[in-house]
Amino acid sequence: MTINTAVFDLNCTACPRLSQFLLENKEKYPEYHARPVPPFGVAKPKLLIVGLAPGMHGANATGRPFTGDHAGIILYEMLYQHGFSNKPISLNIKDGLKLKHARITNAVKCLPPDNKPVGGEINTCNHFLVEELKTIDKKAVILCLGLISHKAVIKAFGLKQSDYPFIHGKAHKLDDGRQIIDSYHCSRYNTNTKRLTEKMFSDVFKQIRVELKL
Ligand code: URA
Repeated sequence: MTINTAVFDLNCTACPRLSQFLLENKEKYPEYHARPVPPFGVAKPKLLIVGLAPGMHGANATGRPFTGDHAGIILYEMLYQHGFSNKPISLNIKDGLKLKHARITNAVKCLPPDNKPVGGEINTCNHFLVEELKTIDKKAVILCLGLISHKAVIKAFGLKQSDYPFIHGKAHKLDDGRQIIDSYHCSRYNTNTKRLTEKMFSDVFKQIRVELKL
């Protein structure tokens, strides 16, 4: 997929704290991607999955969302089980993995210290999401992984946060035919504590297939 710079800019340095952190990271791990991580998947997705931000030794290292991150193990497995990809495991950008109908992006494109982007960084990065949402199918489902990604998507659509509370499994139908479906983030913490079980996550994907009539 060719991505225009309104949707993603590999050279973006708009957040001083994040770009400084990436420079330090590249020095420490020269073999890492250590730059903004581009969206991965099809050009006009029926399903857009929005994560939080690249993980240090995962997406930040490999250059592909969730690839190498613990959270990616269950995410890519689910995508495969529910017919959204050709392989259950995501290893690196040369592994031949292809998504079907789907694309994965992050609310914040750069690795944040301690996995925590600050509010200003989430807002600064939001214009990329605004543009990306213009490229998806008219009837697309946007799957928000966690509260921060949910809020970033609501903001990118210009909607009022209080009208769209984050609720796991909730489908928020938008006037234009699209819908936002919320899920707890598939982070190691959430899966270890069983806030998000495999069954719960699988049920979200079943719901998405029904909504998309796939
Ligand atoms: N890796 C990503 O790319 N995004 C997340 O939200 C978590 C891990």
